[in-house]
Amino acid sequence: MKALVFNEINKVSLQDVAKPQIQNPTDAIVRITLTTICGSDIHLVHGHMKSTPGYTVGHEFVGVIDEVGSDVTDFKPGDRVTGPPAMHCGQCENCRRGYTSHCTRGGILGSGVEMGGLEGTQSEYVRIPFADLNLVHIPDTLKDDQVLFVGDILSTGYSAAVDAEIKTGDVVVVYGAGPVGLCAVASAKLFSPSKIILVDMDPFRLKVGKQLGADHIVRADEENVLEVINELTNGRGSDAAIEAAGVEPTFLNALRCLRVGGRLSLVGIFSKDIAVPFPEIFFKNLTVRFGLGDLKNMDRLVRMIEAGKLDLAPLITHRISLNEIEKGYDIFGSRKEPVVKIAITP
Ligand SMILES: NC(=O)c1ccc[n+]([C@@H]2O[C@H](COP(=O)([O-])OP(=O)(O)OC[C@H]3O[C@@H](n4cnc5c(N)ncnc54)[C@H](O)[C@@H]3O)[C@@H](O)[C@H]2O)c1
Ligand SMILES: [Zn+2]
Ligand SMILES: [Zn+2]
Repeated sequence: MKALVFNEINKVSLQDVAKPQIQNPTDAIVRITLTTICGSDIHLVHGHMKSTPGYTVGHEFVGVIDEVGSDVTDFKPGDRVTGPPAMHCGQCENCRRGYTSHCTRGGILGSGVEMGGLEGTQSEYVRIPFADLNLVHIPDTLKDDQVLFVGDILSTGYSAAVDAEIKTGDVVVVYGAGPVGLCAVASAKLFSPSKIILVDMDPFRLKVGKQLGADHIVRADEENVLEVINELTNGRGSDAAIEAAGVEPTFLNALRCLRVGGRLSLVGIFSKDIAVPFPEIFFKNLTVRFGLGDLKNMDRLVRMIEAGKLDLAPLITHRISLNEIEKGYDIFGSRKEPVVKIAITP
């Protein structure tokens, strides 16, 4: 079968590899019908995250069950499914405490031996361990496009909105209009805020943010972000902020834009230390939450999509076949043309 292999830093290629086989009775083999490229794939391929090359990349997928192991009870060949990037076992200490993204026996699809050695989804088939725990059914009423983002970026954006504890009428600021920030905008909308303010420098992505529910967009490269937020909140500051860029200026603005008692939810992954301006923010009694997104809401998110309350179609800016995926990496990695997500059909 064809699969996109990470050969060496900055080099991926479409190759013929062996089709995956059932290895454990709890495994399922899924035939991929739609996949996409994630920012984390780009970080791996560019060598910003440690991994030994030589594996199939990708962890966002929609597919059809091809085969199941003898212990799989909830899925059968022909069922349409999707799933998260991080697999979990349900039995280790982290899983039992509810931190399934931190499962010590799972691993992340398509991220190399350092992260569990599971092959990825930019491929014709993938092996899913602990299938009953990690897969979710897709109703016939929904197309692949509609559920492609459920497992990863939507789960992460939704988790960010939950952690921001958005109440009806709140003003929420989302920093970063990348795929994760845009999913955070769509998710924040579910909690009935009075205003969602979206901050980025990319005019195309900000426009997509408006389609997904942002009420105000702020150009961080052209406007004074804090002044704009101050005006939009009548000097009060925002109730909640979501940081989905992972850089110092957005982190600092996210702390500074909050009112007394505000909540900051950080999903951006930071690669450098940042000094926290405690003398300035300490007495605001802020709540800050951060870390890996909670991936246990997939069923709930599928239902919200089915009910018409979440529509992430505007995120798909490009459609290509698996045969063209190397070109897809170039476009998505360089952002040399306006791009949010690329839907890839094997
Ligand atoms: N916590 C988790 O579980 C989890 C999961 C997936 C991704 N992430 C992280 O979430 C972040 C967002 O992911 P993504 O795929 O959307 O990334 P992305 O790089 O596509 O998007 C980041 C956005 O931030 C914008 N940005 C950068 N600097 C800015 C600044 N100074 N002011 C305003 N905007 C700025 C960029 O223009 C871009 O649109 C990344 O850090 C990623 O690693 C976290
Ligand atoms: Zn991802
Ligand atoms: Zn576990």
